[in-house]
Amino acid sequence: MENFNYYNPVKIVFGKGTIGQIDKLIEPDAKVLLTYGGGSIKTNGVYKQVIGALKGRKVVEFGGIEPNPSIETCGKAVELGRREKVNFVLAVGGGSVIDGSKFIAAAIPFKNKNLWQIIEKGSGVIKSALPIGVVLTLPATGSEMNNISVMSRNATLEKKAFRSEYSYPKFSILDPETTYSLDRRQLRNGLVDAFVHVCEQYATKNSNAHLQDRHAEGIFKTLVQIAPVVMSGKKDYDTRATFMWCATQALNGLTACGTIGDWSTHGIGHVLTAFFGLAHAESIAVVLPAVWKYELSSKTNKLAMLAENVWGIKKGSKKQKAAAAIEQTVKFFHSVGMPTKLSNYDITKKDITKVIARFKQTGLVLGENHDIGAKAVEKILKICL
Ligand code: NZQ
Ligand code: ZN
Repeated sequence: MENFNYYNPVKIVFGKGTIGQIDKLIEPDAKVLLTYGGGSIKTNGVYKQVIGALKGRKVVEFGGIEPNPSIETCGKAVELGRREKVNFVLAVGGGSVIDGSKFIAAAIPFKNKNLWQIIEKGSGVIKSALPIGVVLTLPATGSEMNNISVMSRNATLEKKAFRSEYSYPKFSILDPETTYSLDRRQLRNGLVDAFVHVCEQYATKNSNAHLQDRHAEGIFKTLVQIAPVVMSGKKDYDTRATFMWCATQALNGLTACGTIGDWSTHGIGHVLTAFFGLAHAESIAVVLPAVWKYELSSKTNKLAMLAENVWGIKKGSKKQKAAAAIEQTVKFFHSVGMPTKLSNYDITKKDITKVIARFKQTGLVLGENHDIGAKAVEKILKICL
């Protein structure tokens, strides 16, 4: 097992009817910047519960944070927050609202005028942030229990992650009933994103981190088990609660302990989203099987373990099992209605040259073996077509 530090200060408040606890979690004299997305919280009753729980506090609202939150939109919230001298940010929504709010909370006290520095340099320049609270409405990203934020700059078609020790939420309220209004596309995206987060930490070098491996396999198996009921759209409380907790566990740092992450699927996926507008989960569902095929020889051990312990494949050589693990994972994505090829989005060989050029320009190298640079990205994207 690799050496590791583990720190996670996020207080999780989990269960039905818990939104009212905001009253106890935020100081009575706080001036709150309430951030949300395109309006789903106004139609599903979450907004009403949040406003009810914030009673007595001064509240300034900023709605309209879009999926794949941009610095252009969130920059306006920074101006509003500074003007109104808010001292707390409450994010109500999915990963985009939470990530946008992490950026806003770091940017309000940021001294440099160039706010993109926050995203480019992360912890190197973030020296403080307003406290953040979260009411999660979409199980997917794990942002509610980590210090990561992924931001886009529309003007330059960039999408990048930053993290800082000031970007952990103080608390996150996870009420599974808030997920009842999600449509099939968002449910599918959430299942796949959570699944791929575990893949990026598990299907890498074998670090003999046995407990983390079993934990990861537990999340995989649980997601596979609940997927049919999730996708049926049934308002089944225990299924939604299990889904929400799986997605949080998939990226709260626990399965990463003592292992070496890959994250090349996410790195390539972000560029696909920036150029072609694929939803985050759509992009990674295309890239993951291709990365695994490209890296088959270095990932054989862990993919064979995935085949045996998650997909129940007991026969064949390690190589055959590893290949079968890729096939089964693709089948799982298809079973929830998730496409796995760029051609499903009418993206052609000609289009991907932009993505390769971006990797050449940035010189970014990804993967647990630091071997996925522009040349490898080209080969991987050809497999994705
Ligand atoms: O904007 P509203 O109206 O709220 O609608 C949203 C949005 O259109 C809707 N939605 C959310 N909760 C709902 C709901 N609709 C009905 N009922 C509800 N309860 O769903 C749509 C998508 O929301 P979004 O927040 O964009 O989805 P998700 O949670 O998948 O977040 C995706 C973003 O997170 C980043 C992605 O790159 C992407 O930008 N990620 C963040 C990570 C992190 N911080 O750790 C890690 C991930 O790998 C990921 O990169
Ligand atoms: Zn993801």
